[in-house]
Amino acid sequence: MAAITYEHIKTCKQTGARLGKVHTPHGSFDTPSFMPVGTLATVKTMSPEELQEMQANIILSNTYHLWLRPGEDIVKEAGGLHQFMNWDGAILTDSGGFQVFSLSDLRDIVEEGVHFRNHISGAKLFLSPEKAMQIQNDLGADIMMAFDECPPYPASYEYMKKSVERTSRWAERCLEAHQRKNDQGLFGIIQGGEYEDLRKLSAQDLTSMDFPGYAIGGLSVGEPKDVMNRVLEFTTPLLPADKPRYLMGVGSPDSLVDGAIRGVDMFDCVLPTRIARNGTCMTSQGRLVVRNAKFARDFSPLDPECDCYTCRNYTRAYIRHLVKNNETFGMRLTTYHNLYFLLELMGQVREAIQQDRLGDFREAFFEQYGFNQP
Ligand code: GUN
Ligand code: ZN
Repeated sequence: MAAITYEHIKTCKQTGARLGKVHTPHGSFDTPSFMPVGTLATVKTMSPEELQEMQANIILSNTYHLWLRPGEDIVKEAGGLHQFMNWDGAILTDSGGFQVFSLSDLRDIVEEGVHFRNHISGAKLFLSPEKAMQIQNDLGADIMMAFDECPPYPASYEYMKKSVERTSRWAERCLEAHQRKNDQGLFGIIQGGEYEDLRKLSAQDLTSMDFPGYAIGGLSVGEPKDVMNRVLEFTTPLLPADKPRYLMGVGSPDSLVDGAIRGVDMFDCVLPTRIARNGTCMTSQGRLVVRNAKFARDFSPLDPECDCYTCRNYTRAYIRHLVKNNETFGMRLTTYHNLYFLLELMGQVREAIQQDRLGDFREAFFEQYGFNQP
């Protein structure tokens, strides 16, 4: 039995979005799904109980960061990531490829892997497909990611072609090196930037290798939204219908809805948790910057339509006061709300797919959130 399986429930007649379930060794989650990011084996400021309470059934963590600190040997000795952080739900680890490219400026990509400097200490390090698999096998997440190259936007066609071909060779090496196929599923990552024929090449290479799931990488790297939507439109049909599709690093409310409409099942992003810590909240009426002076005497909740713990108990005025004073409780309240908001949004997306009305939902949601404004 494969570690990861996808159960398709139905396709939205209005949009083509997919409703499904992904089964993992640590429970199932409904798709389309948003995964909160817990880079260092913690979703910053949230306890596992709080994540459970808001029905986050899968979270993401990072190979690169846990390799540097505390070291995957310590996590392994603790009994794996689930035990180490006391999280019994599903976990996905990213491979470290993307983090090397985004956090380290001194790097040298060769066929064998990537030479770079530790973004904390400056020490010389080397990451390869084999090393990324060994670390992820030691961490023990339910879903691991292949070691890929995520080129910057824009990248030339010539560069992107070479990069896609290398990412395919690295994917082969990842499959070969993966030691725990019974209880950890390894996803391949489609690259190719904005180039349709390169996305096709990447998808052909990777689908021929038979991974239990596929990610679309190299998006949300600075390209305009319409480019991302176009790439999704021609890439998701290249992927097998009986396996989950994961759009990496995407978490703005509009992109979650637009991604689902194009057949994406899983998303992750630091956006909701990162902006929460400086006081920016996602609400049904759009973004709310709670530090703003106009909220000093506003005794209403962050989002009048939200029934999360934060919105049931605390006011904008109080949260503004906490956030302005860098009080940790303020960050906890905004983080809780933002994650709840996105998880609730995905629940609404799933319900709309069930009822074949995701297109109508999109229109109403974009209108209320303010995405339709020029
Ligand atoms: N996170 C966001 N984009 C990417 C990507 O292209 N590759 C990997 N490994 N992680 C990502
Ligand atoms: Zn709320």
